[in-house]
Amino acid sequence: MPSVVVVGAQWGDEAKAKVVDLLGAEADVVVRSQGGNNAGHTVVIGGNTFIFHLIPCGALRPGVVSVIADGVVVDPKHFFSEKTELEKRGIKVTPERLLLSERAHLIMPYHRLLDTLSEGMKAGAKIGTTGRGIGPCYADKAARSGIRVVDLLDEETFRKRLDAALAEKNVLLEKLYGHQPLAADEIAAEYLGYAAGLRPFVRDTQDYLWTALDEKKRVLFESAQGTLLDIDHGTYPFVTSSNAAVFGACAGSGTSPKHIGKVIGVLKAYTTRVGAGPFPTEAKDALGERLRETGQEFGATTGRPRRCGWLDAVAGRYVARLNAFDALAITKIDVLTGLEKLRVCTAYRVSGRTLEDFPSDVRTLETVEPAYEELPGWTEDISKARKLSDLPKTARAYLRRIEEFMSAPIEIVSVGPERDETIWIGRGKR
Ligand code: IMP
Repeated sequence: MPSVVVVGAQWGDEAKAKVVDLLGAEADVVVRSQGGNNAGHTVVIGGNTFIFHLIPCGALRPGVVSVIADGVVVDPKHFFSEKTELEKRGIKVTPERLLLSERAHLIMPYHRLLDTLSEGMKAGAKIGTTGRGIGPCYADKAARSGIRVVDLLDEETFRKRLDAALAEKNVLLEKLYGHQPLAADEIAAEYLGYAAGLRPFVRDTQDYLWTALDEKKRVLFESAQGTLLDIDHGTYPFVTSSNAAVFGACAGSGTSPKHIGKVIGVLKAYTTRVGAGPFPTEAKDALGERLRETGQEFGATTGRPRRCGWLDAVAGRYVARLNAFDALAITKIDVLTGLEKLRVCTAYRVSGRTLEDFPSDVRTLETVEPAYEELPGWTEDISKARKLSDLPKTARAYLRRIEEFMSAPIEIVSVGPERDETIWIGRGKR
């Protein structure tokens, strides 16, 4: 297996974690490069559900080393609670199996607070963030006022950086939001308390990854969120604050694009979005309800109901070109069973014009009308299908249509949450 990046091809929640877990069977290292505990990566094994938010889901594979790399934003409080949860379920999260980058930025209590307060102020223009402090933490990173894991390991540096940050945040909290100021001593005591527990996990993960790649170890990058939530290329401003598309894997881990052997796009057989922002194929009717209930489309992090709708080939073509997918994994196709007709949006109509390219402007995207193509559905239970020929002809035609507009071959089709509820196509399983 060459180094592989697994990327979400929609607005997140494409069931990437199942794909990462499957490919993890052949990986030596699994890396998270961006995002933080805003993610919710669900893996189901023998009826047991494991939800990962910050820790790479490679942790489920005993021989795999998991890496939380430079570009991830880390809430230490959450780190320990997720670690404890996993350990309670029998998963070992030891410093030999999990490495945390010294360059990763820390999510601080004021980041969580400001995330919520700033959303509260955006009347009518809320992003619908997860409230985990992700945006404010990345904002501080860009403003050069962030605090990194390595800073926490040195009490004096940490205290200096905390005091400098709080001097500014407390003005914001008091004057803009009418909130009481935060006490530096309390935060310092809490965070310095985490330092001892974090220290054994902390590494120069760039160096670790370079050596691993030199030694031809199989490195799997697990992207969080989805390409349409990418800070630069998504539906801005209704995006997350990191690069969720393929390039985030390199920028956030200190590896070169030359190290990437393969890019796998994960596309759910229909579309969902959680939070605010344009969604041209959203079904606000019984279909949306049907997809939500059958697909259990409720946020793994916040529990919010996800907005649901048909596949969007306009967005799909855009995402496929942006990431240059080598292959695709199609997930949750079983959720479509029983629908008489399936629809795929092939173009947008706006002010009498037809758009075939994905617009950069959300105002346009908010007003477009999707133009649909119809395909026949199927009624057979496909959850037992293990090869392509086990699928009804109409399901295969639907998959072929996806390959056409995504210009990439499908290597994996998921027909249920369990590991074995999978169809491997062609060279998909090596
Ligand atoms: P934030 O990442 O919490 O700042 O939220 C920004 C936007 O990204 C919101 O619309 C969130 O719902 C969305 N978002 C963040 N993480 C995920 C995810 O893992 N899956 C789906 N949507 C996400």
